[in-house]
Amino acid sequence: MFRTKTCGELRIANVNEEVTLAGWVQTVRKFGAITFVDLRDRYGITQLLFGEELNALLDENPLGREFVLQATGKVNERSNKNPNIPTGDIEILISSFKVLNKSVTPPFTIQDDTDGGDDLRMKYRFLDLRRNAVKKNLELRYAVNRAARNYLHEQGFMDIETPFLIKSTPEGARDFVVPSRMNPGQFYALPQSPQTFKQLLMVSGYDRYYQIVKCFRDEDLRADRQPEFTQIDCEMAFVEQEDILNMFEGMVKSIFKDVKGIDYTDKVERMTWEEAMWQYGNDKPDIRFDMKLANLKFPAHTFPSKESKEQLIGGVDFKVFDEAETVIAVAIPGAAEYSRKQTDELTEWVKRPQIGMKGLVFIKCNSDGTYKSSVDKFYGEEKLKAIAEYANAKPGDLILIVAGAEERTRKAASELRMEMAERLGLRKKDEFKLLWVLDFPLFEYDEEGNRWVARHHPFTSPKPEQIETMISNNPVIENAAEYLKHPYANIKANAYDMVLNGNEIGGGSIRIYQRELQEKMFAALGMDEEEQKHKFGFLLGAFEYGAPPHGGIAFGFDRLCSILGGSESIRDFIAFPKNNSGRDVMLDAPAAIDDKQFEELQIKLDLK
Ligand code: AMO
Repeated sequence: MFRTKTCGELRIANVNEEVTLAGWVQTVRKFGAITFVDLRDRYGITQLLFGEELNALLDENPLGREFVLQATGKVNERSNKNPNIPTGDIEILISSFKVLNKSVTPPFTIQDDTDGGDDLRMKYRFLDLRRNAVKKNLELRYAVNRAARNYLHEQGFMDIETPFLIKSTPEGARDFVVPSRMNPGQFYALPQSPQTFKQLLMVSGYDRYYQIVKCFRDEDLRADRQPEFTQIDCEMAFVEQEDILNMFEGMVKSIFKDVKGIDYTDKVERMTWEEAMWQYGNDKPDIRFDMKLANLKFPAHTFPSKESKEQLIGGVDFKVFDEAETVIAVAIPGAAEYSRKQTDELTEWVKRPQIGMKGLVFIKCNSDGTYKSSVDKFYGEEKLKAIAEYANAKPGDLILIVAGAEERTRKAASELRMEMAERLGLRKKDEFKLLWVLDFPLFEYDEEGNRWVARHHPFTSPKPEQIETMISNNPVIENAAEYLKHPYANIKANAYDMVLNGNEIGGGSIRIYQRELQEKMFAALGMDEEEQKHKFGFLLGAFEYGAPPHGGIAFGFDRLCSILGGSESIRDFIAFPKNNSGRDVMLDAPAAIDDKQFEELQIKLDLK
């Protein structure tokens, strides 16, 4: 037997037991005639004590960091206990040992706070994975995986695998493609998600499907995006939106409970997409804190149901506001005391190209009920008071106001809200707040192609009462600048996202399940009959054989793990992630392939 115990399990109760451990040498400390070795494995660290006799052996063949060692001895109570580790009360008095394998000196220290930079750690990811911090993340990932499976299994879901080599039908992101040797000149695509397969499974009668599955998208990468990532992908038949929301709210709560011990008993809040954009400037608002946006001015067609507040800021000849399409205020709690230097810095912050505002207007709501603003020239006390009231500002708050074109200004206001919350410490890593965002727009305007694209995907059903609007209006956009006035801009979908602490962790929809409506949807997206048949003939065909009403959702598994683990980056929760250029620096992939491989594929490379 290689080992009788692990390096994490021995306690004071094991004293005098004879044990054999196996693991990696973390540190070697020599004190005269004795040597202490910290031995590490997946389960922990145990101190080994090599007495005088063995010490001579060690002198001849010194142990190095990361050597693989097997050691046998008796558990002994330590005189100098280490309260920081679970095995800190004991050590092993070694009677025999064997070096199972040597190691060259690792390029960085295998410790919680390592001296290795990101690139080095990725190149030697197999060593990085030995570190406690990374191991904890993978353990959390596995716990989330188990919790999701347990819940879904209990609810009668069946895990069914779907193929990875499929047909290219780019939607949203670009496809990764794979050449076929047996079909020269033809390519498979890797699935961006198993979307159409899970719908076919509904047609086949597997009315509760799930899969924890890899998805592949050739898109620009960010901290929360990888070219291959994992979804908890689910679909249900004979359901309405409400059934899906309840089922998956249950799943996430169950994960919270199993993984973090959190009893999330509150009903998950719900908000329409429009309300989210209005109150937070964002379709994935972080609702751990309030700081809602106060819309002082906005183009009427963007929020037809909302009332204009232009009277609060107009009529004083302040050009910045008069000429702006949109003016949005946000009250920052307790920030009225900000110094000139601090407000100047905030102005610089909104002027950065990523935010793109020309400036920032301030109103300080002093604790004594007076106001001081950067626009005192235009607005008297009464006006400032009215703005402050509308912005829900209390004495002691600082109101920040941005103005400009609608989309950019709304985004800037949203970013400003998040930034200020971050600075005020309101984005706490150990607080979790879920939110359903509902009624997303069915279509999105694609500027480049001057056409409509599906906001979620083309299988999402419009709100039943708006199907007629979709069918009876011509999708062509005559005036690109006024696309928001096209009837399509206001069609909403039975689509929903689950948001956790300001991150989209899942998204789904109720699907179209009738051939005719699916064809009309494709047509609205500019697909003629030929293209529909070529790309989605299999699905349209299947819909003719008794497709049940169905809907589903997919969760970003890596994202969910990273948020539960309190990290910004999903890479920390993936065993072998890619870097920001989509490269695996350990494998050095992607890489060129052999001439022979090209020959077999009958492909000739002609790089532009
Ligand atoms: P969607 O495209 O919204 O929906 O994806 C679902 C969830 O997957 C996560 N996600 C990603 N995570 C890491 N890296 C990426 N590149 C990445 N892209 C998406 C997000 C997102 O919420 N088939 C539909 C689901 C459905 O309709 O049932 C789909 O894939 O957390």
